[in-house]
Order: sequence, then structure tokens, then C-alpha cells
Amino acid sequence: MGSAHYARPVTASAPPLDLADPAVAADPYPSFARARAVAPVQWHEGLGLWLAFTHAGSDAVLRDRRLGRIWRDKEPAERFESFNLVHRNAILEMEPPDHTRLRRLISAAFARGHVERLRPWVEDLAAALVDDLVERSGGTTPVDVLSGMAEELPVAVIAELLGVPDTDRHLLRPWSNAIVKMYEYGRTTAIEESAERAAAEFVAYLRELAAARRRAPGEDLLSHLVAVRDSEGDRLTEDELVTTCILLLNAGHEATVNVSGNGLLALLEHPDQLRRLRDDPGLLPTAIEELMRFDSPLQLFERTATEDVEIGGCTVARGQKIAALLGSANRDPAVFADPETLDVGRTDNRHISFGAGVHFCIGAPLARVELQASFGALLHRASRIELARPARRRPEFVIRGLADLPVVLTA
Ligand code: HEM
Repeated sequence: MGSAHYARPVTASAPPLDLADPAVAADPYPSFARARAVAPVQWHEGLGLWLAFTHAGSDAVLRDRRLGRIWRDKEPAERFESFNLVHRNAILEMEPPDHTRLRRLISAAFARGHVERLRPWVEDLAAALVDDLVERSGGTTPVDVLSGMAEELPVAVIAELLGVPDTDRHLLRPWSNAIVKMYEYGRTTAIEESAERAAAEFVAYLRELAAARRRAPGEDLLSHLVAVRDSEGDRLTEDELVTTCILLLNAGHEATVNVSGNGLLALLEHPDQLRRLRDDPGLLPTAIEELMRFDSPLQLFERTATEDVEIGGCTVARGQKIAALLGSANRDPAVFADPETLDVGRTDNRHISFGAGVHFCIGAPLARVELQASFGALLHRASRIELARPARRRPEFVIRGLADLPVVLTA
């Protein structure tokens, strides 16, 4: 990779993102700002791919049809049989026409009122979780909002939507957590083995659950997907059915958990904005979008060039990878006024935390229902929320979130 590819040379004083640096994982935004000032797109030698730092660059990465999500089985294939299966058949990894076919089927299942049907249920659940936390805290004892609400709510919601029995719900998060660790850089063999084991167990579990719904259909999304599979057999394969459920279960909570955690922490660190939101609850919808912009839970998505593509003044050669850096794009001063400022009333907010283009998040309406319910419940049912001690961040870069968020809540 020659330096001729750079729009401007990347100098030693402006090193590209060092993902192994704990300070970068803790707060990547200063590095993003420095990188954006150097060039919109830069080659990252360590990762062996291009990085798009600007909004225009990241948006183009996600929308340009010559840049594809092309799944290549992880080798050795026998060691990653189940992990490969759940990716080879996942809508997220597909390109048209398979992507279009699957997206239409899943969107149709979602459009059957499943999300709106759940709204009151989600609001009741959020209220119950917050009340429990407030009672346990009693204005003095630290409680962890992350495990007590941020993690509980989205898992329960997506499980309810799909029709996973209550008694099995505790299985979902450990499986999902083990699988998504594979998307981070610097994986160990232990991480790979645990991801493969989780994928195998998850696939076996869903094959059985799909068979049970086939015998006795319910009103849930899984029953509808099974019906699609059976009535129009060649339009959704059995593997696609199982994989879609796994993707919905994983994507359905991994990011939402972290918007709750990152978002609440941002509000606690900006008490003027928390007060503003309390004083004007009508700001909740714009506040949710702003929290998603300010500290995006998903930081990086890769694409592969199917032909040479010019982007941000660089040529991404056929076969090379380029990644959109969503958190960096969301702080681009070319698109956002005062991008480093948290403004819960921000209206012109073109954040790309839900992606862009054909893979734009299918679950965005559901995520918004969940986030409005949980932040709404916290603000209405706890008159005071205070950080008990500094929250701990997880070290991963791609899925950005907290390990805990200890707060004291007062009724
Ligand atoms: C705040 C929470 C969420 C965020 C930030 C988020 C973000 C994203 C992003 C950035 C993408 C695009 C990835 C790419 O272009 O490669 C995506 C796709 C997707 N999301 Fe979400 N998501 C969230 C919640 C959800 C929920 C609740 C569900 C399920 C109910 C869901 C299901 C999906 C699916 C199925 C796709 C793949 C769509 C496709 O490939 O066409 N997401 N999400």
C-alpha cells in the first residue's frame, strides 16, 4: 500500500487510531478529531484496511453498492462450522438479490404490528425495572443500572417479540456475548472457541424452537417466520430462518444495552442537559437521537470493494476492505454544529448510528420504543440519579459500552 493512496500524507504527529491503546478505547473521540483533520480516509497498517473518519466518507462506505458485505467462511472451516453457518445465512452479510429477498420477508413480519403491539408492554417493564432499582437504592445504596435495567429490558423485549419462553431467556445474552466478541480486533483462540460453542448451542436451540412453533404456532414473530418458510418454501431456507432469529436476538439487544449505558452516563456527566430534559420531557425523542450520536454503541462496520472505488480522495482497490467509523462520523463538524457538545434539543441530527443504505437497521423503530421507555421511566420515577462511583468501560472498541453503571436513585 503506497502513500500515493493518501489524500495527504499521514505524519508521525497524527498517528492513525491505535485500537490497542486503552486510552483510545476509553475515549476515541479526541483521536477521531485529530484523524479527521488529517484526511477523511486513511490506510490503517495494523488492521490492514482503510478507515473512513468523516460523515461523508462513512456514509459513502455504507451506501456505495460497489462496497459489499461479503461473507467469507472463517478458516479452518471445520473449527467454525456453526459460526460460519450463522453468518453465511445472515441478512447482515448478504448482498442483493438475496439481501432484498430476506429483507422484504423480515420487514413484512416486523410490519405486522409487532413493534407497536409491544409498546405498552415495554413501558410497563421499564417502569417495573426502575421501581425495583429505586427501591433497592433508597436514595443511599449504589445499584447497577446496566445489569438492573439496560441489559434486562432489550433481551426481554426481543425474546418476547420472537416468542422465546421466559424460562429460556437467561440463555440468550451469554450466547450472544460470546458470538459478538468475534467482531473485535485482537481475538484469542479461547474467544474463538467460545464463539463457536455458543453458535452451535444457539443453532440447535432455535431449530428445536422453530419445530415447536411449527407444531403449535403462536402470535409471535418466530411463528410468522416459520409460516413464511413453510408456505413459500423456496423463499426462506431453514438455515436462513434459524440465522435470522439469532441475528434478531443478538442485534436486538447488543446495541440497545449500550445506548442505555453510554447515554445515561453522558447525561450524568452533563447535569445541565439532564436538568433540561427533566424540565421538558417533550425533548425525550431528540434526546435519544442525541445520545446515540454522542456516544455510538457500534463504532465500526467493514465493507469489501468489488471493484476499485474512489472514496475521500483515496482508491480502495478491488478486494481491499474499508470501514465506516460511525462514532467519528457522528462528531464531524462539517455536518453537526458544535459536534463535541451534548445538546438534548438538537434537531438537525443526521447521525448514522443506525447505519445507512440497504442494511439500515431494521430494528430502529423497536430500539426507539425501548430507549424512550427506559429513559422516560428513569426520569419520571427517580427524582434524583447520581453516579455512585466512576463507571467502568469495557475494553472493546467495535461494540462500545460499559461494564457497569453504579448509581444512587431516589424516589
Ligand atoms: C440502538 C440500538 C441499535 C443500533 C445502534 C443498531 C445499529 C445497526 C446498524 C449500524 C446496522 C447496519 C450495519 C451495517 O450496515 O453493516 C444495523 C442493522 C441491523 N439491525 Fe440494528 N441496531 C439497533 C437495534 C436493533 C434492534 C432492536 C434490532 C432487532 C429487532 C436490530 C436488528 C438489525 C438487523 C436485522 C440488521 C441488519 C439489516 C440488514 O442487513 O438489512 N437492530 N443495526
